[in-house]
Amino acid sequence: MDYQMQNTLLYVENLSVAYGEKVVIKDVSFVEKDVTREGSVTGQVIAVVGRSGRGKSTLFRALTGLIKPTTGKILIADVATGVENDAKEVHEGDVGFVDQKYTLFRNKTIYQALMFALRHKDFSKEEKHNTITKYLQEWGLEKAKDQYPCELSGGQRQRTAIIEQILCSGHYMVLDEPFSGLDIGNIEDVKKAFSLITSLHEFNTIIYSTHDIELAVELADSIYVIGYPTIDGKTADYGTIVKHVDMKERKLAWKEYGVEHLEVVKEIKAAMLTS
Ligand SMILES: Nc1ncnc2c1ncn2[C@@H]1O[C@H](COP(=O)(O)OP(=O)(O)OP(=O)(O)O)[C@@H](O)[C@H]1O
Ligand SMILES: [Mg+2]
Repeated sequence: MDYQMQNTLLYVENLSVAYGEKVVIKDVSFVEKDVTREGSVTGQVIAVVGRSGRGKSTLFRALTGLIKPTTGKILIADVATGVENDAKEVHEGDVGFVDQKYTLFRNKTIYQALMFALRHKDFSKEEKHNTITKYLQEWGLEKAKDQYPCELSGGQRQRTAIIEQILCSGHYMVLDEPFSGLDIGNIEDVKKAFSLITSLHEFNTIIYSTHDIELAVELADSIYVIGYPTIDGKTADYGTIVKHVDMKERKLAWKEYGVEHLEVVKEIKAAMLTS
């Protein structure tokens, strides 16, 4: 499938993050550009996989500006200036984040939280109500809409957190393990949300982590494996990018999942097992 690369949307150079003295990720560099295809709006879907503790969530906290890197820089496109290829350093709030624990406002019901997510949108109260009602119905949350987070199941919290970010994010959205703990119907809902988001605007970029390699290979057009690198025959104790699979280059992006995708799954699993 033909595609072109345009503006740089995400530029990460020489990133490292430490908690106190402990370096958790190091030497992380990558570039993601706006991918365009004639006749369709094509947002970017980027998957990050890797074994537990390798630093996926840490990378995400840096990408969303929640923690300050020890070294390196993270730039995102600054669309507000209208200047092509203008970039700025990422700051907290620039990138929507659904964290692994699905943090919600403790004292807001689902409905109130979603209303709050729409606070900056130029909609009438009725439009906001209708938008929220539509999501609640589609995502099976209608009955729970007046419940508080402590009264919700894990899956309900997660879906609320995802809808919240869909409603208030700009072009960038980072989701830490959005598929874990969901039933098969909810997984389809999240998949649909991904394709909806990426069809809305060229610049829309979803970055997500998952332990389900099939879901990385099926949905992403770019996949990064974070693992411990092997240096001089020894396994290092910090995470870095040990493999990148460009599904576009392999002509597997935006394509029905098939035998060739399964080959990529195997390749990624092999890379994970040695890192
Ligand atoms: N706030 C923190 N303070 C100190 N160490 C931390 C902190 N958060 C994470 N770590 C450590 O950093 C390393 C990477 O953790 P991180 O949560 O980024 O991994 P992960 O790849 O997201 O794992 P998982 O797949 O289990 O979610 C781990 O060794 C973890 O113990
Ligand atoms: Mg994590």
